[in-house]
Amino acid sequence: MSLLCLLILQAACGLAHSTWDNCGGYCGLRAMPYDYGAGAYNYYGMTRVVGGSNVQTADWPWLVSIQHMWIPDTGHLCGGSLIHPQWVLTAAHCFTDVSNISLVYVVIGATQLTQPGPGAQVRYIRQLRIHQYYDPGNNLKNDIALLELDEPVLCSPYIQLACVPDVNLRVSELIYCFVAGWGATTARASSSSDVMQEAMVHLIDLKLCNSSQWYAGKIHTNNLCAGYPQGTIDTCQGDSGGPLMCKDTVADYYWVVGVTSWGKGCARAKQPGVYTSVQHFHDWILVQMGASPYGSAS
Ligand code: ARG
Repeated sequence: MSLLCLLILQAACGLAHSTWDNCGGYCGLRAMPYDYGAGAYNYYGMTRVVGGSNVQTADWPWLVSIQHMWIPDTGHLCGGSLIHPQWVLTAAHCFTDVSNISLVYVVIGATQLTQPGPGAQVRYIRQLRIHQYYDPGNNLKNDIALLELDEPVLCSPYIQLACVPDVNLRVSELIYCFVAGWGATTARASSSSDVMQEAMVHLIDLKLCNSSQWYAGKIHTNNLCAGYPQGTIDTCQGDSGGPLMCKDTVADYYWVVGVTSWGKGCARAKQPGVYTSVQHFHDWILVQMGASPYGSAS
């Protein structure tokens, strides 16, 4: 009985997190502890990541669109994952051609870029931290970066934090994995997608991924490969920086296990998507944020 009381008290106190935290002590939850109301699950029609499908509103509430003022149409540059109310995890290579970070901003809580809706929030960049050993000349080794937002975002049914795994998570045992983003929906399309796309993918053994018919030694130990041997379904240009997400083996929340990094073409056989393995950078992430990330459940 006293244990139950303690649990209720903890829940009531929002699990005793610091004052900036308005995200309830949760991460990785898609079905939020909120009341959606009937309107929240509207489909945006079945228009048609390559081989994916439209998501429902607030389906991946930590997925953000990183945008640049000079990019035509939607401005979309890359994806990213909200891991703290003020920090976004993304890929280092997204910023190769960005000379002025003050032209970059982040749209959080949107599903359709041309109609972000009332649930969306926009933030500017206070600082960009690119991994000190990011190596564009060595198959994008350490392709990971963090953006500190100018102001924290407020969590809501549309905006939630992602869970960042540490080295103890047995990633290869995770079965239900997804990619999502606003990237091109065909390998030849040059523009990004207006409505967020998602697709289920399988984690691919690194040995197989690195074998001679596949990526022939280009995959680092800090990478993950995900997709299908036959191709068809994959991330593509514009999905970079966004998450590879897997459901926990026991509980109903998702880990951001990868950051979309590269691939040869898109959706080709034996050339799956290559992701930066987030768990290998858990400590780097903590150091950059200067404190324990709030989304670091373990
Ligand atoms: N480099 C791409 C980007 O900047 C992501 C490519 C992912 N490619 C793939 N075949 N999975 O958006």
